[in-house]
Amino acid sequence: MLYSGSRSLTCCNRKSSLTDNDHVKAEEIQTSSARIKPRQLSNGKIAPDLVPKDVSKYAMLIHSASQLLTLTGGPQRGQRLGQLGIIPDGAVMIQDGRILAVGTSKDLRAEYPGEPDIDAGKRVVMPGFVDPHTHLIWVGERAAEFEMRLQGKTYLEILANGGGILSTVRATRSAPIETMLAEARSRVHTMLSYGTTTAEAKTGYGLETESELRMLQALLALKEEGPLDLAITFLGAHAIPPEYQDDPQGYADHLCEEMLPEVLQWWQENAIDQPLPFVDVFCETGAFDLDQSRKILSTAKRLGFPLKIHADEFDNLGGAALAAELEAVSADHLVATSPEDIKILAGSDTVAVALPGTPFGLAEADYTPAKEILEAGGILALASDLNPGTGWCESMQFTIALACRYMSLTPAQAIAAATINAAAAISHSDQVGSLEPGKQGDLLILNVPDYRHLGYRFGTNLVDTVIKKGEILFNNHAHN
Ligand code: NIG
Ligand code: FE
Repeated sequence: MLYSGSRSLTCCNRKSSLTDNDHVKAEEIQTSSARIKPRQLSNGKIAPDLVPKDVSKYAMLIHSASQLLTLTGGPQRGQRLGQLGIIPDGAVMIQDGRILAVGTSKDLRAEYPGEPDIDAGKRVVMPGFVDPHTHLIWVGERAAEFEMRLQGKTYLEILANGGGILSTVRATRSAPIETMLAEARSRVHTMLSYGTTTAEAKTGYGLETESELRMLQALLALKEEGPLDLAITFLGAHAIPPEYQDDPQGYADHLCEEMLPEVLQWWQENAIDQPLPFVDVFCETGAFDLDQSRKILSTAKRLGFPLKIHADEFDNLGGAALAAELEAVSADHLVATSPEDIKILAGSDTVAVALPGTPFGLAEADYTPAKEILEAGGILALASDLNPGTGWCESMQFTIALACRYMSLTPAQAIAAATINAAAAISHSDQVGSLEPGKQGDLLILNVPDYRHLGYRFGTNLVDTVIKKGEILFNNHAHN
């Protein structure tokens, strides 16, 4: 089924964009059951009703990709970053939601004759983006704060005065779960339409047990609903809540002694068969210092949770080295990280997640030093950091464009960082992030002939078709 406007969102498969004046010519798509005559407009674009719906469900052969980006071979460390594994005139066969085969169009069409097929039209086909750091669930907005920052206030000043994260905490605590879900769904819709097929999503706007559990519950509901795959993170250590304003250590102790054990118990009772969520800490001036971060993360580790950390977003407190020491799955931000800590991190298996949308959103000059991380042999990933404060951006395409300009990544490096390495940053690289037999059939047909258009172009959506577990979710033809 095409992902549509059932949640009062506008479906991308609108027919209203076609007018009687559009010149239409017939072109055939071969399917196993029928020859379908889709319409091609005079401007060369395909009518949005082109893709036969019955093709999408069980098996499909996507062929005639100008470049099929396979990203095979696992996460890419250091200077190996950017191996796209391109198959010219490539094809991919999907069955029952998983990739069955990858190869040239000629070989796969010979091997799977008569399968329903989709002509990629000599455009790029690649894995769906993985966004390994988002604050997907919140209520409200902070546009006034954006204006305050433009007028000279800093992000940490606004937080210290009870604004920033704490203003979103007030809005989120007081909202019904339905409101949380409705606002998050709208962002999920945007993420999917821009090609993100798997994402991480954090709590962190509750900062008290009950509200944090409500956020976890909302995240589980979103995950269950699909179609976006979610990796869930508990970020009870996102800020010092108003109740502990004068006693940050008291909140850190409360997190370790009460909240984390309660989260574990709640999860075991309510998220049966789901992997434990990550536990994350905002290790920063005005949030949690290094000792508090170490205590919270060590307690979480003892309880069995996998770890993440917001490290060195503004100040270098040593969070990156802590992540390596505690074998965190990822350390995120890394803008103010010292050269020594970069070496320590790069020598570990902890993925370094850069979020260029954050300095961009804050209009700051410093970005994650990607070159140094790669030279030191680190595993670099990219994420959006989607959140209402530092950067409200659902688009991994825009994240890639920023990484190319401000972190000096090539498009190939940025694409690998946004797919296979991003999957490693949430421990999902065995399932998603590349086009290899056995992995999920999550892929994108871009409306471009060459992968370098990612990064080169920005501000518009280059994704033409989104396929998730072998189902067509979006055809953006009408909008491209
Ligand atoms: O990653 N810095 C901490 N957390 C987010 C911002 C959250 C917010 O401002 O609401 C970040 O930048
Ligand atoms: Fe964040």
